[in-house]
Amino acid sequence: MRVATWSLWLLAACGAPADPLPAEPEPPAHTRIDLPSLAACGSCHLRQYEEWAQSLHHGAWTNDNVRAATRNFEREECRCCHSPMPVLPHSLVERPPFRDFNHDDGVHCLSCHGLADGVAATRDIPDAPCRPRADARLQQAELCQPCHEPTHQAFAEYRLSAAFADGVRCADCHMPEREDGSGRSHGPHGGLNAAFVRKALRWSCAIADGELVVTLRNKTGHKFPGEIPSRSFVLQVELPGREPIRELLRRPHKGEDRADNRLLPDEERVLRFPLGDGVAAADVLVRFLFLPLPMTPIEQAFVLGEWRGDG
Ligand code: HEC
Ligand code: HEC
Ligand code: HEC
Ligand code: HEC
Ligand code: HEC
Repeated sequence: MRVATWSLWLLAACGAPADPLPAEPEPPAHTRIDLPSLAACGSCHLRQYEEWAQSLHHGAWTNDNVRAATRNFEREECRCCHSPMPVLPHSLVERPPFRDFNHDDGVHCLSCHGLADGVAATRDIPDAPCRPRADARLQQAELCQPCHEPTHQAFAEYRLSAAFADGVRCADCHMPEREDGSGRSHGPHGGLNAAFVRKALRWSCAIADGELVVTLRNKTGHKFPGEIPSRSFVLQVELPGREPIRELLRRPHKGEDRADNRLLPDEERVLRFPLGDGVAAADVLVRFLFLPLPMTPIEQAFVLGEWRGDG
């Protein structure tokens, strides 16, 4: 706008039409971090865009839970990871700088792919408009670290896991390969996806010597439930004529007087419940439940599994 006003003034002062100023060349898409993701990347990469649009990476600035917890982001210390500048040109250890525009995109394409002069990819494609460049860091687990470690310790846990020892990265679980071989899904593979959460746990049950014995094994690469206190696991044992017995595992909130009783990476935990007299195996029902949000009523929990004593 300033340029236009200035050229009008020039016109009036000289009384003759001035040559129009050369237009600023449009910067290529990869530098237009100020554009919504759909315009900057999604119009050409619709598949990745549509998957990502369903995920909490996209919802990182707008979901109700985060709006409430951050008081609509009045709490400035909460902003940087929920609307981040690209991590690769900055640091994979420190939290990213805050992107103080285009907030509603949350963690967008350039947060992970952005380089100073192109986009990080798994291979060089010199003639593509977004200038993809092979950058090994895109395929390393550490890509996820600057946002997922500083407050949530996912990495400290991950480094103790069998997944880490076997070279299984965060993205191998959270960005599974698409069936058609076209790459990795950018969709919502987290705690709000019941089918995904079912992969977190292996369990078995048995009745012996008047006791129900439940064995749980954590198959994620970190504690289960992962990262945030919003998610909880409930083991529910139902016996006729009694209130259900519930064993709740979740991370404590900051300052909450509660032990962190989550399963450690790869932990196998055995829980025993005395059945009491006169309870037949056929009367026992065990349910493995997951509450995605603190206000989820138990009736709407994700059912990860069920076991009946009569098989
Ligand atoms: C004008 C269209 C267009 C825009 C806008 C665009 N891209 Fe691309 N992108 C392409 C094309 C074409 C290719 C090459 C695809 C191929 O050869 O398979 C490509 C390739 C890529 C690759 C490598 C894919 C592979 O198969 O290895 C990545 C990663 C990528 N783009 C990310 C982005 C990101 C992030 C943005 C936004 C900053 C973006 N692109 C914007 C058209 C675009
Ligand atoms: C260092 C980066 C970082 C900072 C700073 C940060 N967050 Fe987050 N936040 C994350 C990540 C990563 C997740 C995703 C964890 C998950 O889904 O398990 C997350 C998830 C959340 C969620 C969960 C949303 C849901 O759908 O359940 C809430 C709520 C939240 N953050 C609140 C806050 C608040 C409040 C602050 C400031 C006190 C804050 N965050 C600061 C990285 C950060
Ligand atoms: C949380 C980080 C993250 C975000 C956000 C993200 N990507 Fe990716 N993307 C990756 C990683 C990691 C890979 C490479 C995975 C591999 O092959 O190991 C990838 C791969 C790709 C590829 C190669 C083809 C494929 O689908 O695997 C394209 C194209 C791409 N991303 C585009 C986008 C676009 C467009 C957006 C925004 C709508 C986006 N990405 C958002 C991390 C991200
Ligand atoms: C630039 C910061 C940033 C990076 C890099 C990042 N994340 Fe996140 N991630 C977040 C934030 C913030 C949230 C939580 C949004 C919320 O719930 O409000 C989140 C949420 C998630 C979730 C929950 C998604 C859902 O839809 O349920 C998963 C899973 C996740 N991240 C995995 C990863 C993985 C794997 C990587 C690396 C490939 C990665 N993230 C890289 C910031 C980041
Ligand atoms: C072996 C597979 C596996 C690996 C490796 C793994 N995760 Fe997970 N992760 C899961 C499963 C399954 C869940 C769902 C159950 C839960 O909430 O713990 C999960 C949950 C999460 C969540 C909670 C999402 C939400 O919406 O609540 C985040 C965030 C996350 N993982 C991030 C990471 C990061 C970052 C890494 C690498 C340091 C990683 N994960 C490594 C399997 C894995």
